[in-house]
Amino acid sequence: MNLTYFKRYRMEINLAGRDLFVEMPPGYWFRPWNPALLEAFAEAKYHSFRNEIDANVFPCLGELAGCRRLMDEISQKPGFLPQATWLATYTPAGRRHEHCGTIQGVRNRWGKGSIQNVAVTPRHRDAGLGTCLLFRALQGFRTAGVARVVLEVTSQNEGAIRLYRRLGFTTVKSVFKPVEAVHA
Ligand SMILES: CC(C)(COP(=O)(O)OP(=O)(O)OC[C@H]1O[C@@H](n2cnc3c(N)ncnc32)[C@H](O)[C@@H]1OP(=O)(O)O)[C@@H](O)C(=O)NCCC(=O)NCCS
Repeated sequence: MNLTYFKRYRMEINLAGRDLFVEMPPGYWFRPWNPALLEAFAEAKYHSFRNEIDANVFPCLGELAGCRRLMDEISQKPGFLPQATWLATYTPAGRRHEHCGTIQGVRNRWGKGSIQNVAVTPRHRDAGLGTCLLFRALQGFRTAGVARVVLEVTSQNEGAIRLYRRLGFTTVKSVFKPVEAVHA
């Protein structure tokens, strides 16, 4: 089997004493997890990841069916935290609403919060939505009594790494994720 290794950073934040309030960009609203929204979460995730590096690292992110399966799996995990799991929707005046971002949180076996992935669809980026989703999830972790939150990010994903650092995440470790190489 031919394997490719992707370098990933494990990053962590201590929530103690942090102000987790941030203004929402106008026109957007957030809904907490609800099983009836599984399809909407999957759709937002798929449209966010399908052309990104993480669709190579986690091929399920590059397919709508894979995103559906992933949301189903995350929501069935024993430590799943609905209060750290949000869907962002954009509702322009008089037009059809659009699901444009997601984040999911679980409590891991060490009692830390773990962000499964944060995603914003391409045309809604650079407006502060990723920041808002992260803050909203961090507030949910705090409400659940979680003091430290971790995530993993692919080392090539410079924009996401900048975002996490700006919020206060620091790198605690590098890990290598083996992925089976796909041949044309
Ligand atoms: C990473 C990701 C979630 C960031 O989402 P986003 O909504 O663009 O994030 P933000 O808007 O909060 O921040 C992004 C940039 O916009 C800037 N920004 C935020 N609000 C802004 C505003 N009102 N006006 C102008 N710029 C703004 C930020 O300063 C930041 O700048 P930088 O790239 O120079 O650091 C998004 O790029 C994405 O979904 N990528 C693909 C999926 C992915 O890789 N997810 C991470 C997996 S670990």
